[in-house]
Amino acid sequence: MLKNIVSSYKDIEIMDVVRHLRILVAVVRNMSRSHRTLVDTQVYWQKPDDGNNNPLQYVAEEKNPKNVARTLNLVSVINSLDIKKPKILEVGCNAGRNLNGLFKAGYTNLDAIEISQDAISVMETTYPKTFSTANIHCGPAENILSKFEDKVALGFSR
Ligand SMILES: C[S@@+](CC[C@H](N)C(=O)[O-])C[C@H]1O[C@@H](n2cnc3c(N)ncnc32)[C@H](O)[C@@H]1O
Repeated sequence: MLKNIVSSYKDIEIMDVVRHLRILVAVVRNMSRSHRTLVDTQVYWQKPDDGNNNPLQYVAEEKNPKNVARTLNLVSVINSLDIKKPKILEVGCNAGRNLNGLFKAGYTNLDAIEISQDAISVMETTYPKTFSTANIHCGPAENILSKFEDKVALGFSR
């Protein structure tokens, strides 16, 4: 049994080294680019590969006091606008920590656009009530935004 534990521990270590090597390659590749095209940016955000912007990381950081204050600030700015039942659109919601803050504050007319299906899947399991209340549109905002035209009272991205 001990042998099995040691060998699976080694497997995990090897996988971790491979993961870090892949991140290193992505970071070096990104550094060598003089600029990113729109498509490069879309591909990056669909599956960030440089060790940053992991949806689980966004969720884990939600409880950090700085982020709690950030969400409260968002809610208070929206409250201060005093719009009755506003239709709110977030562009780039990731795993939905802002949407969840708005939902908990009583806002239910929520829409969001997010390019990463992985982030949307994390939202579905992390904030199931918010997920089932909000309309989440998966894809690049530049292709989806026109659908909203003037149907949104409030739009934000942060
Ligand atoms: C800096 S993160 C912010 C996440 C979220 N607003 C939050 O505060 O937790 C930017 C988000 O925008 C999304 N994004 C980037 N480009 C996008 C695009 N063209 N269309 C839709 N979403 C996009 C990314 O996938 C990412 O989730």
